[in-house]
Amino acid sequence: MTYRQPAGRRRNGLYDEVAPELAELMRTGWADTELLDLTPDAQAPFAAARRDRLSARFPGERLVIPAGNLKIRSNDDLYPFRPSSAYTHLTGDQTPNAALVLNPLPEGGHEPVAYLLDRSNRTTGEFWLNSSIGELWVGRRSSLKEAEQLLGLPCRDVAVLVEDLTASAVSTRLHRGYDVDLDRRLDTGADTDGELAEFLAELRLVKDPWETEQLRKACTATARGFQDAAADLATAIATSERWIEGTFNRRARLEGNGVGYGTICAAGAHATIMHWVRNDGPVRPGELLLFDAGVETTTLYTADVTRTLPISGQFTPLQREIYDAVYQAQEAGIRAVAPGARYREFHEASQRVLAEHLVGWGFLDGPADRVYELGLQRRYTMAGTGHMLGLDVHDCTQARNSQYVDCELEAGMVLTVEPGLYFQQDDLTVPEEFRGIGVRIEDDLLVTSTGHENLSADLPRTATAIESWMAGLSG
Ligand code: GLY
Ligand code: MN
Ligand code: MN
Repeated sequence: MTYRQPAGRRRNGLYDEVAPELAELMRTGWADTELLDLTPDAQAPFAAARRDRLSARFPGERLVIPAGNLKIRSNDDLYPFRPSSAYTHLTGDQTPNAALVLNPLPEGGHEPVAYLLDRSNRTTGEFWLNSSIGELWVGRRSSLKEAEQLLGLPCRDVAVLVEDLTASAVSTRLHRGYDVDLDRRLDTGADTDGELAEFLAELRLVKDPWETEQLRKACTATARGFQDAAADLATAIATSERWIEGTFNRRARLEGNGVGYGTICAAGAHATIMHWVRNDGPVRPGELLLFDAGVETTTLYTADVTRTLPISGQFTPLQREIYDAVYQAQEAGIRAVAPGARYREFHEASQRVLAEHLVGWGFLDGPADRVYELGLQRRYTMAGTGHMLGLDVHDCTQARNSQYVDCELEAGMVLTVEPGLYFQQDDLTVPEEFRGIGVRIEDDLLVTSTGHENLSADLPRTATAIESWMAGLSG
């Protein structure tokens, strides 16, 4: 469970051995840097309340929620670490190789314990010889005592996790798929583990006030990133889509942890490819740029926003006609976001508007109701109209249908509304001038007690507002 040196890995170091004198020299002479009286993380009480709900759902059972392990990119180069969203949701912690355990108490409820990497052990040389977790290589981390103050829950060395878990026979559920070692070692029931995964996802469907604040920050930073990107279109025209991606990345790294998903920077016909993340194409004046990007906060909550921009600053009449159709569909979808509304309603409302436009243009035989009932519009709308948003861009996907796609919206849910029209370059069912045009408008909606709040409303949405915003940026 703790740090694993991959078998057979060779280093390119010049020194095969450590002389005992060097090992001794490195062991001592280091100051005590233990930090005392740390202020608890602002998220700690919210994480505790989330753990209480988990505890109430699985009385008498031990629950193990791993953070996940470091993953090798090549040799001793590692991918940036991203903890499992369930682990971070329940602890506020983001460190690798860790796990949260909820131990059932005889009197009811659970005692939580976070198993974490302790400070690097200087007597074993870990701190200066282990480039994956040695603090001399990767930076200082909290001691267990420091982590207890920050996270507000008991912490133990992850080196004793397996020993602790196997010391007594307790009915255990494991959040599988994040720690290969624990997956192999812990003998639990596949069905009961599946129920745990479902519940962990469902626990995140309604955001608490701390989480909505994070999503607000993500949207604010994302709006600034879009402004940076739009202001940089002239350089993109001289280079490629990648320039815009890089411009947004800088904002995402500056104001957050990075991007919350692969940025889609799709100019011209690339806009008709749903997940265009290669972003290596040209940016041509006169065409549209579909830009779908989100800043992930340092606390790992992400925005997910799309704007479709006229690269030269003004829509052509046809581009505007298609844009307006998508805008009307988004407006209809946004109006359907309210507490008590069925989750499917915003999707249905948007899709109906798009079906009407497609029939109106003569691309599908009406009436529009028939088109909608049969789902024929999907040839041009491709994807669903939105999804839950939070720690993951496609949040809570393991929730049961009854709790997600078949649920009624509740205050505190956050979701995207993102209708689009995509006319493929080789689609002979539409006139030539439509081919190669893709438009999506995507906003992040918080369901409130009275309706909704558009968290990404800082960015213009109507065609006219986009044109004047772009004129202001270049002026
Ligand atoms: N950016 C992925 C999505 O909009 O769902
Ligand atoms: Mn998106
Ligand atoms: Mn989305």
